[in-house]
Amino acid sequence: MLATVTGATGHLGRRIINQLNRFLMPNQIRIGAHTVTKARGLKEAGYQVAHLDYQIPPTLVPALGDSDLVIYVPSLTYNLIDRVTELENLLTAMQKAHVSNLVAVSFFADQANNPFRMAPFYAYLPARLAGSGLNYAIVKNALYADPLVSYLPELIERQNIIYPVGNQKLAFISQENSAEAIAKVAMTPALRDHGQTYLLTQNQALSMSELAKIMTTITRKTIGYQPVSLAEFAHIYHDEGDGNELASMYQAGAMGLLSGVSNDFVKITGHAPTSMADFLMNNYHP
Ligand SMILES: NC(=O)c1ccc[n+]([C@@H]2O[C@H](COP(=O)([O-])OP(=O)(O)OC[C@H]3O[C@@H](n4cnc5c(N)ncnc54)[C@H](OP(=O)(O)O)[C@@H]3O)[C@@H](O)[C@H]2O)c1
Repeated sequence: MLATVTGATGHLGRRIINQLNRFLMPNQIRIGAHTVTKARGLKEAGYQVAHLDYQIPPTLVPALGDSDLVIYVPSLTYNLIDRVTELENLLTAMQKAHVSNLVAVSFFADQANNPFRMAPFYAYLPARLAGSGLNYAIVKNALYADPLVSYLPELIERQNIIYPVGNQKLAFISQENSAEAIAKVAMTPALRDHGQTYLLTQNQALSMSELAKIMTTITRKTIGYQPVSLAEFAHIYHDEGDGNELASMYQAGAMGLLSGVSNDFVKITGHAPTSMADFLMNNYHP
């Protein structure tokens, strides 16, 4: 058995590798590394490491060769054409390398009326895979809970969450929970090979007032909810380079399109996902 993970040096990818260790020996896991220096030390630890650039097709076939399975973690690009191209390049390479099993990581902003900048990609993915001839499953993540931890100091200073989603709820999942479920799906052909789509979320979606209450309890600082407008939100985070993209995502949130909750995590792993309160409690160390 050889499982190749793309995006393997990223936040989610690294956690997937750790979770695969519960099922496979390191030499049965191939790290698909965009920047090989980010995989430093992993070869010495027994993993296979292969350079892989979605946008450079000649790198893909050798990186996927001999694999029984690919776990595809998309890149973080907000360029829609690049994202579709990377998927197409990956599928072409899988065909050339005779790899027929795929677990694709996706995001739940995939509805036809979803204004998130990358929603067309997430809508395209299942339709594209349906005719691919591959054995595959799609694992859709809710919003990552993880960035909230490093966001807390700013929220404490603002004394408020400012997401422009009104009274709508948002659903979250931790990257650790997501990686656990992805590895389990990848290692279980019955869960993986029939075009299944899973949605990974915590047990409940949260209104921003509910989230603010949890944050107040954990930080012991008063955090409320004062939403800004979408335009203000885009302006505030403009300098970080993705203000408009994030605003388009929260626009979807304000339409109730990021609130879906499912029981799939429990069905896959046999236990409950980490609640937001427990996640923040375990990870917030002021
Ligand atoms: N659910 C959510 O709330 C949420 C939030 C953010 C992102 N996401 C999605 O979740 C996925 C993983 O997120 P993450 O936080 O793990 O992102 P990340 O840390 O940036 O990881 C992305 C990985 O993709 C690699 N990559 C970038 N360009 C590549 C290319 N051209 N060819 C091959 N590999 C390439 C990166 O390698 P280098 O670092 O070497 O470039 C990195 O290992 C992404 O698809 C992202 O869109 C979801």
